Amino acid sequence: MKLITQCMFAIGLLAVVNAAHANNAPSGKVIYQNNCARCHGADGEPVMPRAANFQKKQGLRTSDSSLMARIKKGGRICPSYNGILRDPEIVRLITHLRTL
Ligand code: HEC
Repeated sequence: MKLITQCMFAIGLLAVVNAAHANNAPSGKVIYQNNCARCHGADGEPVMPRAANFQKKQGLRTSDSSLMARIKKGGRICPSYNGILRDPEIVRLITHLRTL
């Protein structure tokens, strides 16, 4: 029963997020929360040891294009997002990273 409640909540949440992005283009923040926050932390303060600290601008002191290449390629532990996130999504994600 608890699981069903949680599922209903998740679906409701998705509906709200979708409504906010009716054109189906999730914001950089949503992309970050969905893909990066579990290691880099919701606010850029890492929750996984050795993950880049975006509050301290770790890994961000570079151009947008090399950051995009880095996000697509991945690191040792950091996953590759090539084929997972589309270029326009990564562009919005990078804009968000620079606000953390
Ligand atoms: C499974 C955990 C994990 C996830 C998920 C993750 N990262 Fe990372 N990230 C790391 C770790 C750990 C490092 C340190 C380098 C390494 O070992 O890969 C890192 C490093 C980085 C760096 C710094 C690279 C450098 O040159 O110093 C950037 C930028 C980065 N991640 C971006 C992202 C973005 C953007 C996402 C989401 C789309 C993401 N990461 C998702 C774990 C993760």
